Order: sequence, then structure tokens, then C-alpha cells
Amino acid sequence: MSNGEKTDMENLPEILTAFEQALELERELGTRTVDCDRALLLPVSIGRARPPDAPLRRVEDAPPYRDDGRARPPDAPSAPANDKPRATSLALPTAEELAACTKCPLATLGRQHVVPGQGNAASPDFMFIGEAPGADEDRQGLAFVGAAGQFLTKMIAAMGYTREQIFIANICKCRPPNNRTPSPQEMEACLPYLRRQIAVIRPKCIVLLGRTAMSGLFPGQRILRGMWYEYEGIPTIATFHPSYIIRFNPLTDAVSLRTAKLEVWNTLKLALAKLGKQPPKK
Ligand code: URA
Repeated sequence: MSNGEKTDMENLPEILTAFEQALELERELGTRTVDCDRALLLPVSIGRARPPDAPLRRVEDAPPYRDDGRARPPDAPSAPANDKPRATSLALPTAEELAACTKCPLATLGRQHVVPGQGNAASPDFMFIGEAPGADEDRQGLAFVGAAGQFLTKMIAAMGYTREQIFIANICKCRPPNNRTPSPQEMEACLPYLRRQIAVIRPKCIVLLGRTAMSGLFPGQRILRGMWYEYEGIPTIATFHPSYIIRFNPLTDAVSLRTAKLEVWNTLKLALAKLGKQPPKK
């Protein structure tokens, strides 16, 4: 081509590689059949969708954590995970205790249930932390039981776990009206409950889901996805919130969807590797 742009034929090896990676990712996430519109494949140029100055970050390269929560230089040794003594004098906040909470406006803004979170509270390998309950969670009093929760279940299963084997919690225990983002004051008011959960549960690794979880647990700090931090001695890593993934339309946003899922999966593999584990073979 005279304008210097590659033809679709010249882009073909790149397109095929991206397609192969997308299928591999779906397989790792447990998908067994894929609906594919042939017309989608023809005009796709992965190179155009991801500009050259925005390369996919290789999360495997992420440096490990250090005590102050900032990234550790690659040559520094990483701290042993979960080596702090278990806090036995604390108890998990119960639904009854949380229902009596009036520390922030969410107590008076129409909540039906408080949502403490649920799962294995005896030092599970992973604790996933989201933002706040949505409508389904508010109705049932359980974390991540709606559409985003279904994708989270898939993520957990792809790692080789069931929801009962890990713990799932949120930054805020009450639903903000219309699913708005909790305010910094609401997050701050609720944080002591989450801190107590972390202190009692002592997960071996924390996975933060989305920006609100990142700023809620580390107020005022700049937290990057796919990088290691430490929270109370527990290795902590952040990735996209499941709601961010499921909002992509697989037909019109296929490339963005694949890129986001790939990043999530790489981060989950990094979390497994931190505990010396690998995803199960399919
Ligand atoms: N989104 C969250 O962040 N938490 C839930 O429990 C449900 C949806």
C-alpha cells in the first residue's frame, strides 16, 4: 500500500495470533463453545485497536510488594506471605452488628440488607474485595450474587477454587442508592469493618476488584492493577471489577473485551503464583 498502512493480508499473522490468544483465554476461563460471526473477523486489525504507544503491560513482570505498599525493586527479596500471627481477640462483624450501624448516610438511604460478605473465614488462599452491594446483593444479603458475581464465580473457578473456599467481601457493606460509587466518607466509615474482617480471616492473598476497592483499602495512595502491594502483611493485587468486563458487548467490543479479560486472567495467575500455585489443567 502506498500510504504505508498494512493490508488486511499483511496483518493476518497478527490477527490470527490475537484470535488464538482469545480462544486460549476463553478455554482457561472455562468456555467450551464460542459463537463467532464470520464478518467480525474480516476487518479486524488488532494493531489499530491498540496503538503502538499503549502496549499491553506484561503483569508477569510486575515487581513484588514491600512493606510500605509501594512496588519493590526487582532485586529486593519479597516478604513471606501471611506470616503474621492470627488476631484471635477480634470477631467477624455480623449482619446484626452491621444492621445497627449508622456511621454513614447509607444507613438511611433505603438499604434492605447489609452485606458483610461470605465464604471461608479460616485463612483462605484468597479474599476478593469489591465495591459495594448492588440490587441483587441488597435483596439477598450476600456479596456478588448478581451478574458481576456470576463472572467472579467464573474467575474463581478458573483459578481452581469454589466460592466457598475463598472469602468475598466489599469495601462498603450497604448498597449506595442507584448503585452510585460510595463516597470517600462512606468508604472511610465502613473501612474498620473490612479491616476487622481481614484481621480475623487472615487471607493469604487479597485481590482487589476495581478502582473503588483500590482507593477504599488504600485511601490516598496510587494503586496500579497487576502490581503487588502489602496490606497488613498480606500480599495484595488489584485487577478490573467484574462489572467492567461484563459491560463489553462481545460482538461490537470483542477486542476490548479480550484485552480486559486477558489482563484479569494474567493477574489471577500472578496471584496463584504468589502462593506457589497454578491454574488447574483443563
Ligand atoms: N459489585 C460489587 O462490588 N460488590 C458486590 O457485592 C456486587 C457487585
